[in-house]
Amino acid sequence: MIAVDLGSRTTKAVLLERRGEIYALTRYAMLDAPIFEKKISPELLSDHLHAVTEALGNTTKYLTMSVGLEDAIVRQIEMPQIPLDEMRLVLKVNHKNYLQQDLPNHVFDCFIIPPRPLLPNEKGFDSARSSGSAPKFKVLAAAAKQQLITDYTRAANQAGLTVDCMIPGILAPINTLERVLPEVFANETVALVDVGFKNTSVCVLDRSELALTRVVNIGGDKLTAGLAETMNISYAEAEGIKVGMAPEVESALQMQVIPLGREIRASLDFFEHENDRPVTQVYVSGGAARSEMIMQMLHSELMLECKTWNPTGFLQLALPGQQAVEIEHVGPQLTVAIGAALAAL
Ligand SMILES: Nc1ncnc2c1ncn2[C@@H]1O[C@H](COP(=O)(O)OP(=O)(O)OP(=O)(O)O)[C@@H](O)[C@H]1O
Ligand SMILES: [Mg+2]
Repeated sequence: MIAVDLGSRTTKAVLLERRGEIYALTRYAMLDAPIFEKKISPELLSDHLHAVTEALGNTTKYLTMSVGLEDAIVRQIEMPQIPLDEMRLVLKVNHKNYLQQDLPNHVFDCFIIPPRPLLPNEKGFDSARSSGSAPKFKVLAAAAKQQLITDYTRAANQAGLTVDCMIPGILAPINTLERVLPEVFANETVALVDVGFKNTSVCVLDRSELALTRVVNIGGDKLTAGLAETMNISYAEAEGIKVGMAPEVESALQMQVIPLGREIRASLDFFEHENDRPVTQVYVSGGAARSEMIMQMLHSELMLECKTWNPTGFLQLALPGQQAVEIEHVGPQLTVAIGAALAAL
């Protein structure tokens, strides 16, 4: 199966193969996004997906796609205990109540979060015990424009592919963490931060529940542009310096990372204030997570341990030559694509 993460700068794709009980990563691809300023047309997307499958060796036609941060709405809500297809209908009719937004011409989907037993000292423990009534389901609700789903599906079909599944990109790193670090996923309160090109996504995961999502409009693009401006050099030069981690640019780069760190910190503060629980660790993915220097800067700005993590940890690696060598560095950038693949497995 192929999973594609259409980033605003770089398209990431992975090819997974089922081998009995486990999955093998047999190939990955990173391609420049066709255009990163405007919306992409179905025709251009189709050509692009064609190039992606070619880069992956044309071995399967099943495709999972992640939907970008700006194109999908995700909330954790409570819903009555009804079957999933009824839930989708209720959302379609009643989304204004549940999502506090009017979303005409959208499609809706739900995922029921498996209930976890409440601890005796936890909020709701007594009422859940004494009321005897069926508690509500905690549900992840997602919405996207019908037109976008139609366009993506059509583009995939034109490229000879069948869309198996679409998942909001913001949720993908959570899927990956669940597989790579199941203990952390189930028991801890952590933040998942994906630093992309245009945006950075922040999710607070509180013992397997999605407690907060936020998109910050700062990513690798702003870091490079800011560096170019302060150092009075071209964007391309600044990009090279950023990726090369030249020590003499540390202070100039730090200046660019500070606003990003502050925004992330503000999200964590909000969660901690509302819930009276600390976030203990930050798991960082996306292109910028490939830079040790940026990771250290985030660490000191957030005053919290920031970890890069290996999204391929649960996969058997069966990559060809050069990819087998490079995966260690590229890994953080593939987190969303791998998480999207997991949605379809
Ligand atoms: N080694 C590195 N050090 C620092 N930054 C890097 C490194 N490698 C890639 N990047 C940055 O990562 C960014 C691209 O990351 P990524 O592929 O996660 O973004 P995207 O998914 O295309 O964007 P978005 O998620 O905003 O749509 C670029 O800005 C690039 O400069
Ligand atoms: Mg991205």
